[in-house]
Amino acid sequence: MGRSSGRGAKCGVPAVFICLAALLCANVLLYIYLETVYQDSAPPSAHTNCHTGYFKVGTMSSCTPWLQCTEIRADVRRLRMIGQGAVKKVYLSEWQGQKVAVSVLSSEHYKDDFLHGVSMLRSMQSVRVVTLVGVCEEDGVFVTEYHPLGSALTLEATLAQDRYLRLNSWQTRLRLALDFVAFLVFLHNSPGGARVMCDSNDLHKTLSQFLLTSDLRLLANDLDALPRVEPGGQGVKCGHNQLTGEFVAPEQLWPYGEDVPFSDDRMPGYDEKSDIWKIPDVTRFLLGHVSGSDVIHFHLFQIHAQCKKQDPRQRPSAHEVMSVYRSVYDRMKESHTEIVRDML
Ligand SMILES: Nc1ncnc2c1ncn2[C@@H]1O[C@H](COP(=O)(O)OP(=O)(O)O)[C@@H](O)[C@H]1O
Ligand SMILES: [Mg+2]
Repeated sequence: MGRSSGRGAKCGVPAVFICLAALLCANVLLYIYLETVYQDSAPPSAHTNCHTGYFKVGTMSSCTPWLQCTEIRADVRRLRMIGQGAVKKVYLSEWQGQKVAVSVLSSEHYKDDFLHGVSMLRSMQSVRVVTLVGVCEEDGVFVTEYHPLGSALTLEATLAQDRYLRLNSWQTRLRLALDFVAFLVFLHNSPGGARVMCDSNDLHKTLSQFLLTSDLRLLANDLDALPRVEPGGQGVKCGHNQLTGEFVAPEQLWPYGEDVPFSDDRMPGYDEKSDIWKIPDVTRFLLGHVSGSDVIHFHLFQIHAQCKKQDPRQRPSAHEVMSVYRSVYDRMKESHTEIVRDML
């Protein structure tokens, strides 16, 4: 009896050490996993490895020059219509085994907007903007990378799908809000000067201008209405018609009351701060109602109140908003990791 219990004690000591070591290893691995999962705040992976004038989409392994009229006419096959706005009809199409999106001008009336959009797409190629595949201006056609999830309007339906359910988290949603604000930073500091995102008179319209990538990031897609704010100039106007509603910034509304008929000539211009006004509404949509989104709203309360200042000059820059979003993201990530660690 005594011998057998002594042998048990001898065996027990290394067994305890092995168990402790295994537990320690498991913890280390879990920490490494958590760090990599939550560190992932880099912009979308698409394109950008190609020089200007070249593209790479889908399963392509090397960069190819943007397609021109002859190639677009001969080699791009339209499959079905996937979207339609005021300016373009968009078709899922096929080019050399790759899925692409073909945008076709829907009315000569919008030719100028279309050409403006094409020139913006050409000059703004970056991680924040959809990849351009080719252009044929004389046919009123351009080709871009195809994103199967479509516009940001599909967010709720997408996150409700079984395969995305696990990703319906505050992390995914706050990162989308960060993508939106990061695009505004990019737009307001673009090489040719600040530009205003004009095609954004309501929430639906604004969201329809962005694509949702398969890795749940936002990409700017429709660049048809990005007027430039001339330094020291009169500002810009988003269209020639009267704007109404609470989604647009107060300076975009007719300032002379209902008794004075609207006149485009008398309507004062404004600048990129009209985009800042819209951030809280877009972010509210993107954050939705998941565990953690209330806490994020609370952390963003102050910066959002500043975005809604009546005087555009008192609103923060997109860059300032992004810094706050980033620090909230980091803080949330840290406390979330701590909670998981405490649970171990
Ligand atoms: N590359 C694309 N991949 C997938 N869907 C797209 C793509 N481009 C456009 N779409 C769809 O077509 C819609 C209209 O495109 P958009 O460029 O906004 O046209 P418009 O200038 O007429 O508003 C988008 O909201 C989106 O649903
Ligand atoms: Mg559009």
